[in-house]
Amino acid sequence: MPILPRKVVQDLQPYPAPKEGRYGLVRLDFNENTVGFPDAYTASMPDSTVCTYPEYGGLITKVSKQFEVSPESILLTNGSDEALTLVALTFVDPGDVAVISRPCFVVMPHTLKLAGATLREVAVRSDFSFDLEGIGSALPGVKVAMFASPENPTGAVLPPEVIKSWCEAFPGTLFVIDEAYSDYAGISVLSMIAELPNLLVIKTFSKAWGMAGLRLGVVFGQAPLLDYISRVKMPYSVNSAAIASASSLLDRADAVVAAAKQTMQRKVRIESLLQSRGYTLVTGSANSFLLNLGEAAEKFEAFARKNGVLVRNRTEALTLGYVRVSVGTDEEMKKFMEVLIEFESLNPLQNNS
Ligand SMILES: Cc1ncc(COP(=O)(O)O)c(C=O)c1O
Repeated sequence: MPILPRKVVQDLQPYPAPKEGRYGLVRLDFNENTVGFPDAYTASMPDSTVCTYPEYGGLITKVSKQFEVSPESILLTNGSDEALTLVALTFVDPGDVAVISRPCFVVMPHTLKLAGATLREVAVRSDFSFDLEGIGSALPGVKVAMFASPENPTGAVLPPEVIKSWCEAFPGTLFVIDEAYSDYAGISVLSMIAELPNLLVIKTFSKAWGMAGLRLGVVFGQAPLLDYISRVKMPYSVNSAAIASASSLLDRADAVVAAAKQTMQRKVRIESLLQSRGYTLVTGSANSFLLNLGEAAEKFEAFARKNGVLVRNRTEALTLGYVRVSVGTDEEMKKFMEVLIEFESLNPLQNNS
């Protein structure tokens, strides 16, 4: 008899994204900060922190100051992927109902299913914004409602006042808002955790903070919720290199905020350039946009990769033809435009104006 995993695992697929062979290429496929903050990384790490189990107090104090919340409302995790998984494993019993928007960040349905949740999925509207009325009507009887704001891949934002009204109207539902891209969007519901005992906000150091390879996330929420999550979390899932880098980055948080702002300024420039060439875009509020290439999406993804530029065809998550492009440096965006223009010249009918 073969050894089989749990029934729910038999039906799951591994995270589908192409993650290998990306070094040295123009990486506009995973919404990372493409240059980061090299000076702040592990150079700041004292020797003793490698042979000693990590300590978190110092970083928690800095995170608390940066995000203006009490240290008791902070839990550090190994990226926000771990945060989302812990939340699902802590609060969902098999058969509990969870609400998500579709499409959404793929880890959300994955972890909720793993925890045994029955998913109630509310499709986005035709302009890829959240269907607020649809979500509102799906909420009765729900244990967990999980959304990213801005969402991935749409870049759509949930209005803070709507999140607040849902939390108040459904006190028995845990609302989880993943703010991986809020540093770019400049919008956050973090300050609401003080008054809402059923709200968790998750942030990551993988995007604006440039630490995707070191893995650091944060769950913010009231202490009783975090106490439950701590029972599930392994004690040292965040390593000392991540602690040291984040600590040094938080000392120069102004530079991180300024870099995120510059990325968004570059985003506006590249979007207008594309629109002036007749392309249809979904701009959203994250550090990426969706470019509609119609039937040529898959072909373009492959063509760009061959020419050293990585983008992601999101057709399978959305509707036919949307390619997600992260915003990199000026030089990287120039390279992206050159590749697109060359593609256009070889495929003149594919410019989806
Ligand atoms: C909405 C959202 N949340 C979380 C993540 C993953 O973040 P982390 O690297 O902290 O696990 C991503 C990555 O693309 C994302 O798009």
